[in-house]
Amino acid sequence: MHISELDTPAIVIDLDIMERNLLRMAEYTKLHGLRLRPHTKTHKIPALGSRQLALGAVGLTVAKVSEAEVMLESGVEDLLIAYPVIGAPKLARVVEVAKKTRLTISVDSLEAAQWIAAAADKAGVKIHLLVEMDVGLGRVGVKPGADAVALAAAIDKLDGVDLEGLAFYPGHLKDWSADGKAKMAALSETVSSTVDQLKAAGLEVRVVSGGSTPTEWHAHEVHGMTEVRPGTYIFNDRNTILCGACGIDDCAATILATVVSTSVDGQFIIDGGSKTFSSDKSAEPGHGIVMQAKDAHFARMNEEHGYVELPEARSRFKVGDRVNVLPNHICVAMNLHEQVYGVRGETVERMWPVAARGKLQ
Ligand SMILES: Cc1ncc(COP(=O)(O)O)c(C=O)c1O
Repeated sequence: MHISELDTPAIVIDLDIMERNLLRMAEYTKLHGLRLRPHTKTHKIPALGSRQLALGAVGLTVAKVSEAEVMLESGVEDLLIAYPVIGAPKLARVVEVAKKTRLTISVDSLEAAQWIAAAADKAGVKIHLLVEMDVGLGRVGVKPGADAVALAAAIDKLDGVDLEGLAFYPGHLKDWSADGKAKMAALSETVSSTVDQLKAAGLEVRVVSGGSTPTEWHAHEVHGMTEVRPGTYIFNDRNTILCGACGIDDCAATILATVVSTSVDGQFIIDGGSKTFSSDKSAEPGHGIVMQAKDAHFARMNEEHGYVELPEARSRFKVGDRVNVLPNHICVAMNLHEQVYGVRGETVERMWPVAARGKLQ
């Protein structure tokens, strides 16, 4: 199919750029002896998880139990749920997942560990646990050092689960100024000293799982980390550019949209708004980059309308024209679309249902 035959708005993925992003990360992690466990919350497509595994990923990461269920279709044999699994409905499902694949879950409370252990023990499965520590984001995670060691020691005594090591998410690190570099050095110190303390306490530290797309090329500077979980790197987005981890030519996914109105002076309207792009903000104003008019300002959105400001809008764009918009945050945009299209040049080569979209439980 020719790309002009696609209806809009639609997420289109440049297959060559995506493949290059996947290969670059596979090579980087191999070079530095890091295990790669991509976070699939970005693409939510089992076929892309399979591609990551084929390129050497040791396993995959998900956030939710329902995403784990979908991602089994990728053929994954080693899955990490990097999110606290809390509540009876989830525990009932998670043990079923553990019957089908090696399963690890990160936890930051003894209660969560005990509930998982009891469910696993009852179901006759083994679930592996990572102690999640907060390294600066202030979201989930026990304090590094003594608190992490205490939780690990308590988990070590439970039946039904195996203590595997540590997890953390450096979501607070997004810039490489002197301040960013100092934070990265502090992270390395925090991780390696907690690993040392766990080992000194005679506890297992087979895995130390961290990493993100903004820190992707600095992962080897974190001493003691064995595994990285970048997600956005498969496509990249405007936020990835703004934190300096990629260039605009490394962005694989854009949203193809149609100009539906030029009636108001100094702007054109595209057929996608917050229900197409999501309302996620960026370090800079605007909702994305219009690739065919990088000087334009994607200023506002309603649910189904995108307002793109450009003084000479009417002379440069007419109703029916199509533009590609690089979104601020591709992960949330993916979750809004039923399917996405893989393109090479002008040809639509693939269509993938976003199988895990809306899998929030
Ligand atoms: C726990 C966890 N691990 C890994 C990632 C991947 O981060 P990124 O998309 O920046 O690569 C995320 C992203 O939200 C996350 O929450």
